[in-house]
Amino acid sequence: QQYPVRLRINGQDREFNVESWVTLLDLLRERAGMTGTKKGCDQGQCGACTVLVDGKRINSCLTLAVMQNGKEITTVEGLANGEDLHPLQQAFIECDAFQCGYCTPGQLCSAVGLMNEGQAQSRDDVRELMSGNICRCGAYPQIADAVIQVMD
Ligand code: FES
Repeated sequence: QQYPVRLRINGQDREFNVESWVTLLDLLRERAGMTGTKKGCDQGQCGACTVLVDGKRINSCLTLAVMQNGKEITTVEGLANGEDLHPLQQAFIECDAFQCGYCTPGQLCSAVGLMNEGQAQSRDDVRELMSGNICRCGAYPQIADAVIQVMD
């Protein structure tokens, strides 16, 4: 059985019919064409799938699409404003905050969510509050640099 799910994805109203077991991650990647959102572990351990739901960061592999009906979703594709990169995207480039780039969409969405939360005051806070986003290349210092640069 399929259920209707309405989402506003990166500013566009979209409607899908999905089985109850489809995760938000799989809906975004396989049905909405938002393949910027990455699947790493598919069990809530790596953060590669982080997106924003109503401005709050969430591991999209851990939530069902039907549970997010009516919500506003922002993926990495929605961060830039046309040709203008989001300040965090620009900072990631300037600070060299990635190597392979697989974790980057999740890191960016997590960092935007972190700034929306307004909890991080220091570099240590950034490291701690983004500890759910794993970077296999070990670009953590540069990622923190980029986030701090935008926060300052
Ligand atoms: Fe969702 Fe790893 S793919 S946390």
